[in-house]
Amino acid sequence: MNLGILGTGNLAVTLGRAWATAGHSPLVAGRDPMRARRAAGRIGPAAEAADPAGLAARVDALVIAVAWEGLEAALSLVGGLQGALAGMTVIDCTNPVDYATGDLKPASGSAAALVAHSAPGARVVKALHLFAGASWPYAGPRESAPVVAICGDEPEALDHAAALIGDLGGRAAVVGGLGSARQLEEVAGFVMRVVAAGHNPRLAVPDVDPALLRAAGTTTD
Ligand SMILES: NC(=O)c1ccc[n+]([C@@H]2O[C@H](COP(=O)([O-])OP(=O)(O)OC[C@H]3O[C@@H](n4cnc5c(N)ncnc54)[C@H](OP(=O)(O)O)[C@@H]3O)[C@@H](O)[C@H]2O)c1
Repeated sequence: MNLGILGTGNLAVTLGRAWATAGHSPLVAGRDPMRARRAAGRIGPAAEAADPAGLAARVDALVIAVAWEGLEAALSLVGGLQGALAGMTVIDCTNPVDYATGDLKPASGSAAALVAHSAPGARVVKALHLFAGASWPYAGPRESAPVVAICGDEPEALDHAAALIGDLGGRAAVVGGLGSARQLEEVAGFVMRVVAAGHNPRLAVPDVDPALLRAAGTTTD
């Protein structure tokens, strides 16, 4: 699949490499053509640097891997406000978090909501922001594969994102509509604060087996 990657930094390169390994062809675009070429080169021969203005017409899905501060500007580069991304699965990986305080930078809503606002008609999915790009591809046992909590309003886009996460070796867990994105984004602040306190965030949440809860009749599903 031709997979657009908006962003030319660390996440763009690490995700691009992992998806290229899975057989996809990443097209990388950003505000600086030289950095886009360099990022494509770091990903490998399956990748190509692309002109942001023409990116939407060439890809089947778009992954956003830019800093929160550049989110609106980056979406405008690809014609988001003009509807260039309408109907497309757009996966927002940004972390709009002040890591010192854990606070989200958007006063309300979420980065994913800003993506939806800046790209009318796009089928936005929040995903992949919690894991370092270098976590992928995951090649260990299936039962230990990272669970990637995702949210979005469009079932087809959620399926699309889940398939792409599967290609990385992860397992997608749909937690709700795009309105859940703020909660998912806040988790990144929590994770980084646990790390800053000197602990592994994996050990900072309870070990809960949903199958046992179901068997005990303590869940509603
Ligand atoms: N690195 C990870 O493992 C990881 C994992 C999960 C989520 N994330 C999230 O993914 C996003 C990218 O992270 P990263 O680690 O790849 O960061 P990075 O290496 O610093 O790259 C940042 C990217 O954002 C662009 N950018 C920054 N400010 C901009 C602006 N004002 N206008 C337009 N573009 C701008 C940069 O463009 P220039 O190169 O032209 O400056 C670059 O393409 C962040 O939101 C981060 O929280 C990262």
